[in-house]
Amino acid sequence: MIDLESKKIIALMSGTSCDSIDAGLCVVNPDMSCELIQGINYKYPEHIQSKLFQLFNGEASIKDLCQMNFAVGKCFADAANILISEHGKPDFISSHGQTIYHFPFNEKLDGISLKSTLQIGESSVIARETKCLTISNFRESDIANGGEGAPLVCFADEKWFKPYKKNFCIQNIGGISNVTVVSRENATFGFDTGPGNMMIDYCMRKFFSQPFDKDGEVANKGTISESWLECLLQDEYYFKNPPKTTGREYFSSDYVENALRFAPKDYNDIIATLTALTAKSIAQAYERFVYPDIDINEVVVGGGGAYNPTLMKYLRHYLPKHVDLKTHEAYGISNNFKEVMAFALLGYCNYYNIPNNLPECTGANSRVVLGKVTNC
Ligand SMILES: Nc1ncnc2c1ncn2[C@@H]1O[C@H](COP(=O)(O)OP(=O)(O)O)[C@@H](O)[C@H]1O
Ligand SMILES: [Mg+2]
Repeated sequence: MIDLESKKIIALMSGTSCDSIDAGLCVVNPDMSCELIQGINYKYPEHIQSKLFQLFNGEASIKDLCQMNFAVGKCFADAANILISEHGKPDFISSHGQTIYHFPFNEKLDGISLKSTLQIGESSVIARETKCLTISNFRESDIANGGEGAPLVCFADEKWFKPYKKNFCIQNIGGISNVTVVSRENATFGFDTGPGNMMIDYCMRKFFSQPFDKDGEVANKGTISESWLECLLQDEYYFKNPPKTTGREYFSSDYVENALRFAPKDYNDIIATLTALTAKSIAQAYERFVYPDIDINEVVVGGGGAYNPTLMKYLRHYLPKHVDLKTHEAYGISNNFKEVMAFALLGYCNYYNIPNNLPECTGANSRVVLGKVTNC
């Protein structure tokens, strides 16, 4: 067996929110700890971002998809090159890509499974433009091994939080919300709890022409419509047993438009209720799928949702009083760059051929080494 060494890795990630390409220069160590040296949020050029939203909404063609794979690769490389110009070349790049479609279902065509996922941002372009070896496409191998290809961050959560010997819900609130349950005695497991910021962002764009509810100010001015909230919480996704993952394909613009038919009139109330939906669906997911097995001490929030004080206030309200609510910052991990750091670790494992999926989280049949290597 070869000796592991610390590696300098630039990790690249853009989540379902499509708000920015998060790029982080990280050092991953043989004990699997990860330090963030510098992180940047690199905005997509305006027309590229609109084209991505057209892809999400099914308004773009196969030609657009083909072109965007290369264009997004160039944007990812540009983000990496900003860090490279300041810090020099890393040992390699680890890129998650931009999820365009995620289909974790067991549907079949001619008896052949249609389970699939698509992250774009062509690794050949990243490798060429940065002159760095690039590891990418982490989710496919998990699906090929019977899993859902998500959530993958659970692997990092286990490495980073297990040593604290507490019973944790590590809750990411990005476009979608996902939890990893890391406990003293049980095997780590995780699943998507439902929407994170995605429905809020959609309505902020629609009603306020803003990309998101900055600091939860709009939600804070509104009043939660309890009747609409209860109606939204009846969606079958919330009742499905884990492992389960979801995405933009389900909580889509059509989904929100349909939900809005029953919404209160006041726009502030709509944002307040959707913010409460994210918080309450998380709390209910714990009641249904976590508390029956594990006595949770602490919830640790990360992702963009950690920066929304109204969302955090609602989450506090819906969680049992004895459960502590913190953010990743309390553990020295950036809320903003947590997922980037996780993909640096996944890349590190690929580099050394260490299995980096958790079958309890993704539903895969076996532990496998996720990621593909593109030489520069
Ligand atoms: N200061 C803030 N106030 C309220 N919401 C915020 C703030 N900062 C980020 N967000 C929310 O977080 C989202 C981005 O979260 P992120 O973790 O990057 O998600 P993803 O992984 O899906 O890209 C934004 O679209 C926005 O809704
Ligand atoms: Mg993001």
